[in-house]
Formats: sequence, structure tokens, C-alpha cells
Amino acid sequence: MKILVLGSAAGGGFPQWNCNCPNCAGVRSGSINARPRTQSSIAVSANGTDWVLINASPDILQQIRSNPALQPARAIRDSGIAAVMVMDAQIDHITGLLMLREGKKKLNLYCTESVWDDLNHGLPLAKVLSHYCGVERHAIDGLAADATRFEPIEVPGIAGIRFHPLPLKSKAPPYSPHRENPGPGDNNGLMIENLDTGKKLFYAPGLGEIEPHVLEAMKTADCVLVDGTVWTGDEMITLGLTQKTAADMGHLQLSGAGGMIEVLDGVGERRKVLIHINNTNPILNEDSAERATLAKHGIEVAFDGMEISL
Ligand code: MLT
Ligand code: MN
Ligand code: ZN
Repeated sequence: MKILVLGSAAGGGFPQWNCNCPNCAGVRSGSINARPRTQSSIAVSANGTDWVLINASPDILQQIRSNPALQPARAIRDSGIAAVMVMDAQIDHITGLLMLREGKKKLNLYCTESVWDDLNHGLPLAKVLSHYCGVERHAIDGLAADATRFEPIEVPGIAGIRFHPLPLKSKAPPYSPHRENPGPGDNNGLMIENLDTGKKLFYAPGLGEIEPHVLEAMKTADCVLVDGTVWTGDEMITLGLTQKTAADMGHLQLSGAGGMIEVLDGVGERRKVLIHINNTNPILNEDSAERATLAKHGIEVAFDGMEISL
């Protein structure tokens, strides 16, 4: 099973179009050791030809161009993307769906009821797409009685991989009716299992709180690919960019007590990779003290084009 990191940045990408924070200005001018990144998305395949896109970033067209494996060219019109699965209804994870509108068949889309509701009301991309390729929605449902997991999914055409979605705590998008009281299904993580090797990847690009079932999932995965949005909860406030803390946006900060580094220290020996990195995060500067701290804890930072084989 191959996992391709298509986009490793948070919403806005890196550098962000209107941002002159030290990181964005530094990467633009080449004065810091950092690489640009597109917005949050991964692709998964067992055979290297047929892929499931997990989250559809607004940068999807650039990501497809940068990853020729996603275009197997078997016909005059073709794509390696057999289906799309989205973890939430945030702009950075769904607006790429619009870029896939030229498909000859309905777009296979796997999402929860809450996300589907946002795609038909808060940000009604499903309605818009009905005028183009249309959407064949496949439900992520069957929530367990203890609300720790949904029914596992096998995607037709993607043999050898099973997807285990689970609800987790973060924030619903600003345009969602569930913004302030998100429920199971508004934000999700995904255990991706290679049925041949039994190896598993745990993916959660938006993670606000580590509930027991999330910690358990992290402890049973061979590789965790999780929310690395910000270093401190108030870094965007300190830079004068927003009034919102990371918690207000549904993201757990990396540093400090209860932060993601501490969480990852507690999940034992396994590959640990951060994704969905906001452009303000000092870890983007590869020469920073914060990046060195991650290395000491055995934590990697995903980059666009990173490949993980499990
Ligand atoms: C988030 O992850 O908090 C959002 O995607 C931010 C955004 O894109 O505005
Ligand atoms: Mn985001
Ligand atoms: Zn910036």
C-alpha cells in the first residue's frame, strides 16, 4: 500500500497568497530553509494505478500534475482517482471537488451524513456538481453505539485496502449549521489498512482533542499522519493575523502540556508524521529550534510528494 502526500499545508497553503509572516516572506525570498506546500490531501493505492483521494484540496490540479502516478492514461479521458473520501467539509478539504467536474462518470464520494449535509447546504458543492459530472454519494455511516467508529469501507476497484473511519473532536466549518456544536461525523479520522500485510496508517489532519478511542487508534497504527497545524495555540494571534486560538479552529497545538508532541511521545514506537501544517508554524523552517525538537522526539514533517509504503 502506497500513501502519497499530495498537500501537506493547512488552509491557505505555504506561502499563503496574502501573508507576509516570517515564514511566508522567508520562503518567498528564499531567505529561510523551507519548501512551499500545497493544501491538505493524500492519495492511497494498493496497485499504484487506482487511487482513493482522501480530501480534495483546492490545489488538486497542481497536485495531479506533480504526481504522474495519478494519471495512468489508459484512455483519451482518464484518471487514476477511483473515488474521493473526505474527512470534513472544510474549504481546504472539499473545494477540489469542483476541479474534478469534467469526469465522464459521477464522482464517487465517500462522506458522513453531516459532511453531506454541508455539501448540500452550508457550501452546496454537491448541488453545483449536479450540473456537471454529478456526485455518487457513498455513505460513511453505521456509527457504533459508543460513537468511536463507523462501519469499515471497501472501495470498489481498490482491492486490498480497508478504510476504517472514526469520528473525532474538532470544529465544523464556519458556514456549517453544526459549527458550534459539532457531532459525530462533522470531523473524522481514518485508519487505512493494508489487507495483505495488516499494516495500518492513521490519518487525522484536523484533530482538536485526543479522546481515548483516538489515542487507541494511534497506538495500533504502524504510522500516524496527524494534525501539525500550529506550534502554539496563540501563534496566529501573536503574529497579529487573527483573534482565533488553535482550539477555536479545532486544532491541538504541538508544544506544551497536552500538546501533540506529548501525545505522540505516549503512543510508543511507530512512525510519526505531522501534516496540515499552517504557514505560521516555525517547524516549516528546517533550521529552526522547533524543527530540531521534533527530530529529538522522532517526529517527521510531511512534505508535498512524500511517499509512505505500508
Ligand atoms: C482549518 O483547518 O482550520 C481550516 O481549514 C482553515 C481554513 O481553511 O480556513
Ligand atoms: Mn484545514
Ligand atoms: Zn504566513
